[in-house]
Order: sequence, then C-alpha cells, then structure tokens
Amino acid sequence: MELNEAVRGRRSIRAFLPDSVPRELIIKIVDVARWVPSWGNTQPWEIVVADGGKAKQLTEEFVAEVQKGNPPRPDITMPLDYPEAHKKRYMDLGRSLFSLMGVERGDNAARMKHYLSMYQFFGAPACMYFTIDGGLNEPYACLDIGSIGTTICHAAWQEGLGTVYLACSMHYPDIIKQALSIPENKKVVIGIAIGYPHPDAPASLFRSAREPVEAILRFA
Ligand SMILES: Cc1cc2nc3c(=O)[nH]c(=O)nc-3n(C[C@H](O)[C@H](O)[C@H](O)COP(=O)(O)O)c2cc1C
Repeated sequence: MELNEAVRGRRSIRAFLPDSVPRELIIKIVDVARWVPSWGNTQPWEIVVADGGKAKQLTEEFVAEVQKGNPPRPDITMPLDYPEAHKKRYMDLGRSLFSLMGVERGDNAARMKHYLSMYQFFGAPACMYFTIDGGLNEPYACLDIGSIGTTICHAAWQEGLGTVYLACSMHYPDIIKQALSIPENKKVVIGIAIGYPHPDAPASLFRSAREPVEAILRFA
C-alpha cells in the first residue's frame, strides 16, 4: 500500500474483532514509526503495550471507575473548552457518528453504552500506551508523541490493522502505571487501541469530515 493510500484510507476504528494482534506485528510497526522526527532527536516516547490479560484488567478497572462516578485524573492537561469553530467540528463528529450507528439523540442508554465501550478499547485486544519522562517539557514531548502515534496508526493500517487514539484510555493513569509497571515519575500521554477492524460494524466504517485545502492553507 502506498503512503498516500494509507494516509487517506486510515480512519479511527471504533469496533474491533477480539482476535489478538501478534506481538511481532506490533514490533514491526514500531520499528518503522521510530524514524519520525522529534525535538532535538530527544525521542521522548516510551511505549507500553497492554494486551491479553493486562488489557482485560485495565478495561475492567476503568469501567469500575466510571461507574463509581470518579472523574478523570489524567497526567496531561486535557482541553476543557474550544473556540466556536472547533467546538462545532467536535459536536458534528458526535452527531454524525451516532447517526450512522443509529443512536437517537435522547437514547441515553445507548450513549452510555458507547461511552463505556470507549473505556473498553471498543473491543480491541490491545492498547499501546505512550509515556514520557516527567522531567520533559510537556508540549514539545507531546508534539513528538503525536508524531510517532499517528505514524503508528498509518503503519498499522498498512498491515490491515485498525487503531483509535483514546484520550479516555489515559483518564486514570495510576491504574495504568500499577497494571503495566510504569514508574510513578512517568506521564501517560495517550493510549492508542489497536486490533483488527470489525468488518461491518457502522462504528468501524465511519468516516469523519475534513475542511477543504483552501480553508486550511494559504501562501503568504
Ligand atoms: C489525542 C486524541 C484523542 C482522542 N480520543 C478519542 C476518544 O477518547 N474517543 C474516541 O472515540 N475517539 C478519540 N479520538 C479520535 C478522534 O475523534 C478522531 O481522530 C477524529 O474524529 C478524526 O477522525 P478519524 O481519526 O477517523 O480520521 C482521539 C483522537 C486524538 C488525536
């Protein structure tokens, strides 16, 4: 598969088959992605894969936290609000995803089911956690995490795998550190769920919108 095809074809997958991803395949993907640029070549990323029993343990513990009503306590500051144009895109995303999934506006039970399934990695058998050293400059290290994370998504797509970045997967970093033996002084930046896309679930076929080139690019 050509690079352009992988970039244009990749989308967030929100319904996975339970089949496990061979660890050799994840190694192959990271072996490619580690060639992305980083600030001063600091390569701040450390990646810990939760698969098998660890993935199950995490999802069970996350769901228990959510059901207890415990608010997120992420290591990394999360956005609370957006300027109007960005908020609209965020709202449009939810609306169009739920519409494709057949979830009605007032169907709180279906919305809650979807919300909880995010904490269960949408059924993916593994989640790749990206951590940084707590002593690093957070914005710059996060730029670099985005760089390797997205490259992993594209490389995974080329291998027939689906991915989805999951902010919610790092809402409870203490649970993640305990389960995955990540030292306390590291920060959990993000998790990316990875697995084989469910072939016909609407949530794995959903395509999000993009602004046209002329709206985002200008030559000064
Ligand atoms: C940092 C980050 C966090 C995200 N967290 C979530 C999440 O918690 N739940 C979710 O369903 N999608 C999450 N996404 C996926 C975005 O919603 C998705 O990338 C966006 O809508 C564009 O769609 P596409 O990836 O299908 O092109 C996240 C994406 C990024 C980059």
